[in-house]
Amino acid sequence: MNKRYDLSGALLNWYDYNKRLLPWREDKDPYRIWISEIMLQQTRVEAVKPYFDRFMKELPTVKDLAEVEDDRLMKLWEGLGYYNRARNLKAAAQTVMEKYHGELPADYDKLLSLKGIGMYTAGAIGSIAFDLQVPAVDGNVLRVLARVWGDDSDILKDKTKKEMGKKIQEFIPKDRPGDFNQALIELGATVCVPNGEPYCDRCPWDTVCTANKENLIEKLPVKAPKKARKIEYKTVFLLETKDQIAIHKRTSKGLLAGLWEFPNMSGRMDMQDVMEQMKIWGIENGEISPAGKGKHIFSHIEWHMEGIRIALKEPVFIEKLLWVSKKELKTVYALPSAFEIFRNIL
Ligand code: ADE
Repeated sequence: MNKRYDLSGALLNWYDYNKRLLPWREDKDPYRIWISEIMLQQTRVEAVKPYFDRFMKELPTVKDLAEVEDDRLMKLWEGLGYYNRARNLKAAAQTVMEKYHGELPADYDKLLSLKGIGMYTAGAIGSIAFDLQVPAVDGNVLRVLARVWGDDSDILKDKTKKEMGKKIQEFIPKDRPGDFNQALIELGATVCVPNGEPYCDRCPWDTVCTANKENLIEKLPVKAPKKARKIEYKTVFLLETKDQIAIHKRTSKGLLAGLWEFPNMSGRMDMQDVMEQMKIWGIENGEISPAGKGKHIFSHIEWHMEGIRIALKEPVFIEKLLWVSKKELKTVYALPSAFEIFRNIL
Protein backbone atom coordinates (compact mmCIF):
# COMPACT_ATOMS: atom_id res chain seq x y z
CA MET A 1 0.00 0.00 0.00
CA ASN A 2 1.28 3.42 -0.91
CA LYS A 3 1.97 5.47 2.20
CA ARG A 4 2.18 8.74 0.31
CA TYR A 5 -1.49 8.44 -0.49
CA ASP A 6 -3.45 9.64 2.53
CA LEU A 7 -5.24 6.35 3.14
CA SER A 8 -6.82 7.29 6.45
CA GLY A 9 -7.91 10.69 5.22
CA ALA A 10 -9.53 9.29 2.08
CA LEU A 11 -11.33 6.59 4.04
CA LEU A 12 -12.60 8.98 6.73
CA ASN A 13 -13.76 11.44 4.13
CA TRP A 14 -15.68 8.66 2.37
CA TYR A 15 -17.16 7.58 5.72
CA ASP A 16 -18.32 11.09 6.61
CA TYR A 17 -20.40 11.21 3.44
CA ASN A 18 -21.57 7.61 3.30
CA LYS A 19 -21.96 6.21 6.79
CA ARG A 20 -25.30 4.69 7.69
CA LEU A 21 -27.26 6.25 10.50
CA LEU A 22 -27.47 3.48 13.05
CA PRO A 23 -28.90 3.56 16.57
CA TRP A 24 -25.56 2.70 18.21
CA ARG A 25 -23.82 5.50 16.34
CA GLU A 26 -25.93 8.23 17.95
CA ASP A 27 -23.50 8.69 20.84
CA LYS A 28 -20.40 7.08 22.33
CA ASP A 29 -22.07 5.30 25.22
CA PRO A 30 -19.79 2.28 25.88
CA TYR A 31 -22.70 0.10 27.03
CA ARG A 32 -24.66 0.69 23.82
CA ILE A 33 -21.56 0.10 21.71
CA TRP A 34 -20.79 -3.11 23.55
CA ILE A 35 -24.30 -4.52 23.12
CA SER A 36 -24.39 -3.55 19.44
CA GLU A 37 -21.02 -5.15 18.74
CA ILE A 38 -22.05 -8.42 20.36
CA MET A 39 -25.34 -8.48 18.46
CA LEU A 40 -23.55 -7.66 15.20
CA GLN A 41 -21.36 -10.74 15.49
CA GLN A 42 -22.99 -13.28 13.17
CA THR A 43 -26.05 -11.10 12.56
CA ARG A 44 -26.71 -8.49 9.85
CA VAL A 45 -27.17 -4.81 10.66
CA GLU A 46 -30.78 -4.70 9.45
CA ALA A 47 -31.72 -7.71 11.56
CA VAL A 48 -29.98 -6.30 14.64
CA LYS A 49 -31.68 -2.88 14.68
CA PRO A 50 -35.08 -3.88 16.18
CA TYR A 51 -33.41 -6.21 18.69
CA PHE A 52 -31.03 -3.48 19.74
CA ASP A 53 -33.80 -0.93 20.31
CA ARG A 54 -35.89 -3.37 22.34
CA PHE A 55 -32.88 -4.51 24.40
CA MET A 56 -31.94 -0.93 25.25
CA LYS A 57 -35.48 -0.10 26.28
CA GLU A 58 -35.73 -3.12 28.56
CA LEU A 59 -32.17 -3.18 29.91
CA PRO A 60 -30.85 0.38 29.62
CA THR A 61 -27.85 0.00 31.96
CA VAL A 62 -25.11 -2.48 32.84
CA LYS A 63 -26.82 -2.97 36.21
CA ASP A 64 -30.11 -3.97 34.55
CA LEU A 65 -28.25 -6.51 32.43
CA ALA A 66 -26.31 -7.89 35.40
CA GLU A 67 -29.57 -8.45 37.28
CA VAL A 68 -31.86 -9.69 34.50
CA GLU A 69 -33.46 -13.10 34.90
CA ASP A 70 -32.09 -15.71 32.49
CA ASP A 71 -35.48 -16.50 30.95
CA ARG A 72 -36.18 -12.84 30.24
CA LEU A 73 -32.75 -12.40 28.71
CA MET A 74 -33.28 -15.43 26.48
CA LYS A 75 -36.65 -14.06 25.41
CA LEU A 76 -35.02 -10.74 24.48
CA TRP A 77 -32.44 -12.65 22.45
CA GLU A 78 -34.94 -15.04 20.86
CA GLY A 79 -34.34 -15.16 17.11
CA LEU A 80 -30.82 -13.69 17.17
CA GLY A 81 -29.23 -17.11 17.67
CA TYR A 82 -25.87 -17.96 19.27
CA TYR A 83 -27.44 -17.64 22.70
CA ASN A 84 -24.12 -17.95 24.48
CA ARG A 85 -23.48 -14.39 23.37
CA ALA A 86 -26.34 -13.29 25.65
CA ARG A 87 -25.24 -15.46 28.56
CA ASN A 88 -21.71 -14.09 28.28
CA LEU A 89 -23.06 -10.54 28.18
CA LYS A 90 -24.80 -11.05 31.50
CA ALA A 91 -21.73 -12.67 33.09
CA ALA A 92 -19.55 -9.80 31.86
CA ALA A 93 -22.06 -7.23 33.14
CA GLN A 94 -21.82 -8.83 36.59
CA THR A 95 -18.02 -8.54 36.45
CA VAL A 96 -18.31 -4.90 35.37
CA MET A 97 -20.59 -4.23 38.37
CA GLU A 98 -18.25 -6.00 40.80
CA LYS A 99 -14.88 -4.80 39.51
CA TYR A 100 -15.52 -1.52 37.70
CA HIS A 101 -18.48 0.12 39.48
CA GLY A 102 -20.78 -0.50 36.52
CA GLU A 103 -18.59 1.32 33.96
CA LEU A 104 -16.88 -0.57 31.14
CA PRO A 105 -13.11 -0.10 31.54
CA ALA A 106 -11.35 2.19 29.05
CA ASP A 107 -8.53 -0.31 28.68
CA TYR A 108 -8.00 -2.86 25.90
CA ASP A 109 -6.66 -5.69 28.10
CA LYS A 110 -9.34 -5.23 30.74
CA LEU A 111 -12.03 -5.29 28.05
CA LEU A 112 -10.43 -8.42 26.59
CA SER A 113 -10.61 -10.16 29.96
CA LEU A 114 -14.42 -9.86 30.07
CA LYS A 115 -16.48 -12.88 29.08
CA GLY A 116 -17.51 -12.88 25.42
CA ILE A 117 -15.14 -10.06 24.48
CA GLY A 118 -12.45 -11.16 22.05
CA MET A 119 -9.83 -9.18 20.16
CA TYR A 120 -12.30 -7.79 17.65
CA THR A 121 -14.86 -6.64 20.22
CA ALA A 122 -12.23 -5.21 22.60
CA GLY A 123 -10.86 -3.25 19.62
CA ALA A 124 -14.29 -2.04 18.56
CA ILE A 125 -15.38 -0.91 22.04
CA GLY A 126 -11.93 0.48 22.84
CA SER A 127 -11.70 2.56 19.70
CA ILE A 128 -15.34 3.62 19.25
CA ALA A 129 -16.22 4.35 22.88
CA PHE A 130 -12.83 5.33 24.32
CA ASP A 131 -10.75 6.59 21.35
CA LEU A 132 -8.04 3.97 21.88
CA GLN A 133 -5.76 3.49 18.87
CA VAL A 134 -6.44 -0.24 18.57
CA PRO A 135 -7.56 -2.25 15.52
CA ALA A 136 -10.95 -3.96 15.20
CA VAL A 137 -10.58 -6.60 12.51
CA ASP A 138 -13.77 -8.47 11.66
CA GLY A 139 -14.71 -10.41 8.51
CA ASN A 140 -15.52 -7.19 6.64
CA VAL A 141 -12.18 -5.66 7.45
CA LEU A 142 -10.27 -8.83 6.56
CA ARG A 143 -11.90 -8.86 3.13
CA VAL A 144 -11.06 -5.22 2.46
CA LEU A 145 -7.47 -5.55 3.63
CA ALA A 146 -6.82 -8.84 1.81
CA ARG A 147 -7.92 -7.14 -1.41
CA VAL A 148 -6.15 -3.83 -0.85
CA TRP A 149 -2.87 -5.50 0.03
CA GLY A 150 -3.27 -8.40 -2.41
CA ASP A 151 -2.78 -10.74 0.54
CA ASP A 152 -3.68 -14.38 -0.07
CA SER A 153 -3.37 -15.59 3.55
CA ASP A 154 -6.31 -17.64 4.84
CA ILE A 155 -8.53 -15.05 6.54
CA LEU A 156 -10.15 -17.69 8.75
CA LYS A 157 -6.86 -18.15 10.60
CA ASP A 158 -6.28 -16.25 13.84
CA LYS A 159 -2.73 -15.63 12.72
CA THR A 160 -3.97 -13.69 9.67
CA LYS A 161 -6.30 -11.60 11.84
CA LYS A 162 -3.45 -10.75 14.18
CA GLU A 163 -1.06 -9.86 11.39
CA MET A 164 -3.57 -7.71 9.55
CA GLY A 165 -4.47 -6.00 12.83
CA LYS A 166 -0.83 -5.17 13.45
CA LYS A 167 -0.35 -3.92 9.92
CA ILE A 168 -3.42 -1.68 9.89
CA GLN A 169 -2.68 -0.27 13.36
CA GLU A 170 -0.17 2.24 12.04
CA PHE A 171 -2.82 3.77 9.81
CA ILE A 172 -5.28 4.40 12.67
CA PRO A 173 -5.40 8.15 13.24
CA LYS A 174 -5.02 9.43 16.81
CA ASP A 175 -8.00 11.72 16.63
CA ARG A 176 -10.59 9.35 15.13
CA PRO A 177 -9.74 5.69 15.81
CA GLY A 178 -13.36 4.62 16.26
CA ASP A 179 -14.46 6.27 13.03
CA PHE A 180 -11.51 4.75 11.19
CA ASN A 181 -12.40 1.22 12.35
CA GLN A 182 -16.09 1.72 11.63
CA ALA A 183 -15.25 3.15 8.22
CA LEU A 184 -13.31 -0.02 7.36
CA ILE A 185 -16.21 -2.18 8.53
CA GLU A 186 -18.63 0.01 6.59
CA LEU A 187 -16.52 -0.20 3.44
CA GLY A 188 -16.58 -3.99 3.69
CA ALA A 189 -20.30 -4.13 4.36
CA THR A 190 -21.48 -1.71 1.67
CA VAL A 191 -18.80 -1.40 -1.05
CA CYS A 192 -16.27 -4.23 -0.84
CA VAL A 193 -19.17 -6.63 -0.34
CA PRO A 194 -18.90 -10.33 0.56
CA ASN A 195 -21.26 -11.75 -2.06
CA GLY A 196 -21.24 -10.67 -5.67
CA GLU A 197 -19.12 -8.02 -7.31
CA PRO A 198 -17.83 -5.17 -5.17
CA TYR A 199 -18.64 -1.58 -6.13
CA CYS A 200 -15.07 -0.50 -6.83
CA ASP A 201 -16.24 2.65 -8.61
CA ARG A 202 -17.48 3.94 -5.24
CA CYS A 203 -14.38 2.96 -3.25
CA PRO A 204 -12.05 5.58 -1.77
CA TRP A 205 -9.17 3.12 -2.12
CA ASP A 206 -9.75 1.94 -5.68
CA THR A 207 -6.53 3.47 -6.99
CA VAL A 208 -4.34 1.85 -4.34
CA CYS A 209 -6.14 -1.52 -4.22
CA THR A 210 -3.97 -4.40 -5.45
CA ALA A 211 -6.95 -6.67 -6.19
CA ASN A 212 -8.60 -3.96 -8.25
CA LYS A 213 -5.44 -3.14 -10.19
CA GLU A 214 -4.38 -6.74 -10.77
CA ASN A 215 -7.78 -8.27 -11.39
CA LEU A 216 -7.72 -10.40 -8.25
CA ILE A 217 -11.11 -9.42 -6.84
CA GLU A 218 -12.61 -12.86 -7.39
CA LYS A 219 -9.58 -14.62 -5.93
CA LEU A 220 -9.41 -12.60 -2.70
CA PRO A 221 -9.93 -13.04 0.15
CA VAL A 222 -8.80 -16.65 0.53
CA LYS A 223 -10.83 -18.80 2.91
CA ALA A 224 -9.74 -22.41 3.38
CA PRO A 225 -12.77 -24.69 3.04
CA LYS A 226 -14.37 -25.67 6.33
CA LYS A 227 -15.27 -29.18 7.37
CA ALA A 228 -18.73 -30.25 6.17
CA ARG A 229 -21.47 -29.85 8.79
CA LYS A 230 -22.80 -32.91 10.54
CA ILE A 231 -26.42 -33.70 9.66
CA GLU A 232 -28.80 -34.74 12.44
CA TYR A 233 -32.31 -36.00 11.76
CA LYS A 234 -35.01 -35.27 14.30
CA THR A 235 -38.66 -35.94 14.84
CA VAL A 236 -40.41 -32.99 16.47
CA PHE A 237 -43.71 -33.49 18.29
CA LEU A 238 -46.45 -30.91 18.45
CA LEU A 239 -48.39 -32.33 21.35
CA GLU A 240 -51.38 -30.08 21.57
CA THR A 241 -54.92 -29.50 22.72
CA LYS A 242 -57.08 -26.71 21.33
CA ASP A 243 -55.35 -24.01 23.42
CA GLN A 244 -52.27 -25.64 24.88
CA ILE A 245 -49.01 -27.13 23.76
CA ALA A 246 -46.36 -29.24 25.49
CA ILE A 247 -42.80 -27.91 25.65
CA HIS A 248 -39.53 -29.06 27.15
CA LYS A 249 -36.58 -27.18 28.63
CA ARG A 250 -33.23 -28.11 27.12
CA THR A 251 -30.40 -29.01 29.48
CA SER A 252 -28.16 -26.29 30.80
CA LYS A 253 -25.16 -27.46 28.75
CA GLY A 254 -24.44 -27.59 25.03
CA LEU A 255 -26.32 -26.40 21.97
CA LEU A 256 -29.25 -24.05 22.76
CA ALA A 257 -28.69 -24.68 26.47
CA GLY A 258 -31.57 -23.80 28.76
CA LEU A 259 -33.93 -22.77 25.96
CA TRP A 260 -37.38 -24.24 25.38
CA GLU A 261 -38.21 -26.62 22.56
CA PHE A 262 -40.96 -28.88 21.30
CA PRO A 263 -40.38 -32.41 22.53
CA ASN A 264 -38.26 -34.20 19.96
CA MET A 265 -36.38 -37.41 19.38
CA SER A 266 -33.25 -38.01 17.36
CA GLY A 267 -33.70 -39.82 14.10
CA ARG A 268 -36.62 -40.24 11.72
CA MET A 269 -39.61 -42.10 13.13
CA ASP A 270 -42.17 -44.14 11.23
CA MET A 271 -45.79 -44.63 12.31
CA GLN A 272 -44.91 -47.57 14.49
CA ASP A 273 -42.18 -45.60 16.29
CA VAL A 274 -44.63 -42.76 16.88
CA MET A 275 -47.25 -45.11 18.36
CA GLU A 276 -44.55 -46.59 20.57
CA GLN A 277 -43.56 -43.15 21.80
CA MET A 278 -47.19 -42.31 22.54
CA LYS A 279 -47.42 -45.43 24.65
CA ILE A 280 -44.33 -44.37 26.60
CA TRP A 281 -45.95 -40.99 27.20
CA GLY A 282 -49.20 -42.65 28.31
CA ILE A 283 -51.24 -41.13 25.50
CA GLU A 284 -54.22 -43.27 24.55
CA ASN A 285 -56.34 -41.09 22.34
CA GLY A 286 -54.33 -38.84 20.13
CA GLU A 287 -54.98 -37.87 16.56
CA ILE A 288 -51.76 -38.12 14.59
CA SER A 289 -51.01 -36.04 11.53
CA PRO A 290 -47.88 -34.81 9.72
CA ALA A 291 -46.79 -31.28 10.61
CA GLY A 292 -44.33 -30.41 7.86
CA LYS A 293 -40.58 -30.41 7.65
CA GLY A 294 -37.92 -27.96 8.74
CA LYS A 295 -34.20 -27.51 8.33
CA HIS A 296 -31.97 -25.42 10.54
CA ILE A 297 -28.31 -24.68 10.00
CA PHE A 298 -26.01 -24.06 12.97
CA SER A 299 -22.31 -23.40 12.53
CA HIS A 300 -21.24 -27.04 12.77
CA ILE A 301 -24.50 -29.01 12.60
CA GLU A 302 -27.61 -29.13 10.46
CA TRP A 303 -30.93 -30.28 11.86
CA HIS A 304 -33.31 -31.91 9.40
CA MET A 305 -36.63 -32.09 11.21
CA GLU A 306 -39.93 -33.76 10.56
CA GLY A 307 -42.95 -32.59 12.54
CA ILE A 308 -45.66 -34.86 13.93
CA ARG A 309 -48.80 -33.32 15.35
CA ILE A 310 -50.62 -35.21 18.07
CA ALA A 311 -53.96 -33.60 18.85
CA LEU A 312 -55.42 -34.41 22.27
CA LYS A 313 -58.71 -33.50 23.92
CA GLU A 314 -57.07 -32.80 27.29
CA PRO A 315 -53.44 -32.32 28.39
CA VAL A 316 -51.79 -35.50 29.65
CA PHE A 317 -49.21 -35.29 32.43
CA ILE A 318 -45.85 -36.30 30.99
CA GLU A 319 -42.66 -36.13 33.00
CA LYS A 320 -40.34 -33.25 32.04
CA LEU A 321 -42.90 -31.68 29.71
CA LEU A 322 -44.71 -28.47 30.50
CA TRP A 323 -48.13 -27.58 29.13
CA VAL A 324 -48.41 -23.89 28.30
CA SER A 325 -51.01 -21.85 26.46
CA LYS A 326 -50.25 -21.23 22.79
CA LYS A 327 -50.35 -17.52 23.52
CA GLU A 328 -47.75 -17.82 26.28
CA LEU A 329 -45.53 -19.77 23.93
CA LYS A 330 -45.23 -16.61 21.86
CA THR A 331 -44.89 -14.09 24.69
CA VAL A 332 -43.09 -15.79 27.57
CA TYR A 333 -40.96 -18.74 26.48
CA ALA A 334 -37.82 -18.34 24.39
CA LEU A 335 -38.00 -20.79 21.54
CA PRO A 336 -34.97 -20.95 19.23
CA SER A 337 -35.47 -20.10 15.55
CA ALA A 338 -34.88 -23.77 14.68
CA PHE A 339 -38.40 -24.53 15.93
CA GLU A 340 -40.08 -21.43 14.58
CA ILE A 341 -41.56 -23.06 11.50
CA PHE A 342 -43.43 -25.46 13.78
CA ARG A 343 -44.62 -22.68 16.08
CA ASN A 344 -45.93 -20.82 13.04
CA ILE A 345 -48.28 -23.62 12.08
CA LEU A 346 -49.88 -23.99 15.49
N1 ADE B 1 -20.55 -4.53 12.23
C1 ADE B 1 -19.79 -4.69 13.32
N2 ADE B 1 -19.65 -3.53 13.99
C2 ADE B 1 -20.34 -2.60 13.31
C3 ADE B 1 -20.61 -1.23 13.51
N3 ADE B 1 -20.13 -0.60 14.56
N4 ADE B 1 -21.37 -0.62 12.60
C4 ADE B 1 -21.86 -1.29 11.55
N5 ADE B 1 -21.67 -2.58 11.31
C5 ADE B 1 -20.91 -3.23 12.19
